[in-house]
Amino acid sequence: MQKITVFKGDGIGPEITDCVLKILDAAGAELEYDIHNVGEAEYNAHGALIPQAAFDSFEQTKVLLKSPITTPIGKGFRSLNVTLREKYDLYANIRPAKSNPAVKTPFENVDIVTFRENTEDLYVGKEEKPDENTVIAYKIITRKASTRIIEDAFEYARKNHRKKVTCVHKANILKQSDGLFLDLFRQIAAGYPDIESDDKIVDNVAMQLVMRPQQFDILVMPNLYGDIISDLTSGLIGGLGLLPSCNLGAEYSMFEAVHGSAPDIAGKGIANPTALLWSACMMLEHLDQEEVAARIRAAVDQVLAEGTVRTPDLGGSSTSAQYTQAIIDHLH
Ligand code: NAI
Repeated sequence: MQKITVFKGDGIGPEITDCVLKILDAAGAELEYDIHNVGEAEYNAHGALIPQAAFDSFEQTKVLLKSPITTPIGKGFRSLNVTLREKYDLYANIRPAKSNPAVKTPFENVDIVTFRENTEDLYVGKEEKPDENTVIAYKIITRKASTRIIEDAFEYARKNHRKKVTCVHKANILKQSDGLFLDLFRQIAAGYPDIESDDKIVDNVAMQLVMRPQQFDILVMPNLYGDIISDLTSGLIGGLGLLPSCNLGAEYSMFEAVHGSAPDIAGKGIANPTALLWSACMMLEHLDQEEVAARIRAAVDQVLAEGTVRTPDLGGSSTSAQYTQAIIDHLH
């Protein structure tokens, strides 16, 4: 049995967590859960968004399945996600966007995995105001952080029999910062002659993604481009409700849906648990429980393909509980 930490989150978080844990159990996942309440409700009740016991649990299990957390506005809170990524050096943010034939979008056969560097670049929000009329934001790119995310992208390509890795950058303008990232990409690519590699400027990638997304396989890029481009890739496959993600570090790993706590539908029992479920499948694969993950993925595909049981965000009228039961009924 592998022990994992579970953060139930806010809004729809507890609802979709319950659905996912039920499916994991029904599919025979070898998991033991240490479940913690975190987020706004926890803050209001006990004064901390993430209680110490929840941190302690993650530090012990090293694996976290995390539901969305509301970041309270106007109380000076830093995003909890950024905090977790920094505290546990979760440097690789991996977001696979794969078309599902049962979910119609203007794009077919999209299968793109984004590798986003998670710890530096403009995204860390290091800003200064030397005078009233000027703000400076630091774009920090280091050899160490760039090397490990680029190597991970190539290793993933090799392990998963993918064909190509594309470096996304703006080195034509940011010659030193993105230039370093691109130089390292080229050096590392030379060590993977079995994997095709190329590079493209980020604005061109944005255009090409909506013209011909099928040309892309694995994308690797610094933090801010990754934030934007991975949302774009989610749009290609039907939106944030379907996009899983994992945040990996050398020691810790965190798996979460890309969407937020959806306060507009919280408590109604209609949230779609698929993105968190697919994140849980990535976790199972990470924990060498590939067979269980495959069984769950097949059941979800079948339920979506049949189309009779769907949550409202995918055009249906089923509840989360009915959708969960349908997936459990389709497990083989
Ligand atoms: P959101 O992703 O929560 O919601 C955007 C829209 O998508 C809403 O209409 C919502 O109903 C719908 N939606 C999202 N997930 C869904 C699901 N699983 N099933 C059905 N519909 C779904 O984004 P929003 O409203 O901007 O953020 C709400 C809160 O979530 C904020 O406090 C934000 O800070 C937080 N947030 C947390 C994240 C995390 O913990 N990973 C990520 C993004 C936002």
